[in-house]
Amino acid sequence: MITHYPTKRSALVPTLLYAQDEVGFLSDEVIAELAHRLDLTELDVRNVISYYSMLTTKPRGKYNIQVCTNIACMLRGGEELLDHCKKRFQVKNKGTTPDGMFTVEEVECIGGCSWAPAVQVNYDFHENLTPEKLDAILDQYKKKGTQ
Ligand code: FES
Repeated sequence: MITHYPTKRSALVPTLLYAQDEVGFLSDEVIAELAHRLDLTELDVRNVISYYSMLTTKPRGKYNIQVCTNIACMLRGGEELLDHCKKRFQVKNKGTTPDGMFTVEEVECIGGCSWAPAVQVNYDFHENLTPEKLDAILDQYKKKGTQ
């Protein structure tokens, strides 16, 4: 991946995403390995991880449900969607269901303001949601996750 970028540092975010998809989260070992390969310090790597909500140093469920509650989504029901998810899965913010299937996470703007309220599940965006629409979508993930 390093050869695709003008500097090694530029490969950091793509390699973090790749590693996270492979391992499930960015462990201490992953961070040390990427810092070594990209000629960065571990602190450099951790600073970048802390900036992006899609990167995590803690294990998450198979499906990470990121519910936006920033202004556009808040005005169109984002907080209700977050409450709905927490209630449905009986978890707190950033909590994971006991079966490891779902994590629910409140996030800031995910770039879907024009179609608020928006939710991102792993790499998939879902917009113009209501609790009922979201339930139908989550049912599909659950079905897919148990096959
Ligand atoms: S405010 Fe929710 S996607 Fe921008």
